[in-house]
Amino acid sequence: MVHQFPHALRASIEEAALSGGRGSVVSVAAEDVSARYRRLESDMGNFQLQLRTEEEALAYMVARLPATYAANARVFEEVCSLMPEFSPANVLDVGAGPGTASFAASNFWDFSRLTLLEPNRYLREVGQKFLCPEIDAEILWADQFLGGDLSGVHDLVLASYVLNEIEDKKREGIIRSLWDACSGVLVIIETGTPLGFSVIEDVRRLARSFENCFIEGPCPQSGECPLSSVDGRWCHFSVRVERSKQHKNMKSGATLGYEDEKFSWVALSRFEVNRPEYRLIGSATGGKVRSLQVCDKNGEARTLEIAKSSDLYKRVKKLDWGDGFCDE
Ligand SMILES: C[S@@+](CC[C@H](N)C(=O)[O-])C[C@H]1O[C@@H](n2cnc3c(N)ncnc32)[C@H](O)[C@@H]1O
Repeated sequence: MVHQFPHALRASIEEAALSGGRGSVVSVAAEDVSARYRRLESDMGNFQLQLRTEEEALAYMVARLPATYAANARVFEEVCSLMPEFSPANVLDVGAGPGTASFAASNFWDFSRLTLLEPNRYLREVGQKFLCPEIDAEILWADQFLGGDLSGVHDLVLASYVLNEIEDKKREGIIRSLWDACSGVLVIIETGTPLGFSVIEDVRRLARSFENCFIEGPCPQSGECPLSSVDGRWCHFSVRVERSKQHKNMKSGATLGYEDEKFSWVALSRFEVNRPEYRLIGSATGGKVRSLQVCDKNGEARTLEIAKSSDLYKRVKKLDWGDGFCDE
């Protein structure tokens, strides 16, 4: 599947995590990292870099990388379908971690120059070792925190699972600087939680004050998000990620052979694109009558019931959560 992290590379990362008898240290590190990220979700006071040792960076590679990769790949699939002619030459990936988003992007676009901005040396090191050799581009790493000037202008700018780690008061300035550094498309991906969605809402709100800025996706329209005003709802999507044996061992209580990674995203573009009339914002259900939760081009979130007798039925039958479609 296009969203799955490559098996052979995953196996060599897992082998490195287990080598030298350090498997148990990496497993403990994975628990520590998960606990720290859970605290970050509930207590926005802790804004230090979340990974503090080589073992924790390896734990991230085993426990989180396949899922964040899959979320990125799912988003890029949609961006490509919205902008089939877009072909970035120059990419900037901020809060790049090991280069997850860049690696996923390299499977969709053939870019020649990549700049990765990442202040955590352990993540830079694992990225240089495992992911960079898989990316066919000139690669430059910058040991830099977001907040200062970003040099250069890039066709594609990526911020994956990073803006929620930034203090609220700094976020607006950082989003502005990402847009200023972008000559084509800016893609922001966050966890599919209320916190992640609140970051995406901030981006959408700000985007309306940017010049020459179009909300490309996932929204079929650029106005208020209809879910912003509904208690207990937030716009998010889901991608299924295979679990390896090592991944199951690391996550106590994990028995299934897969996990569902929830994510929220937004892509801003300098060019207007043809947006779909509807986007699925939940799993489709039903057999003879398909029930689709959608967001529509008029800014409404609603449920469409499509009976087998309808002309549309064939087209929507195979649609997945996150897909866009038109009714003609
Ligand atoms: C959850 S990781 C995501 C890594 C990668 N983008 C991915 O999708 O897998 C968050 C990353 O943001 C980086 N980060 C956190 N605060 C940052 C800041 N103020 N400036 C730049 N990077 C930051 C962390 O070092 C870490 O690599």
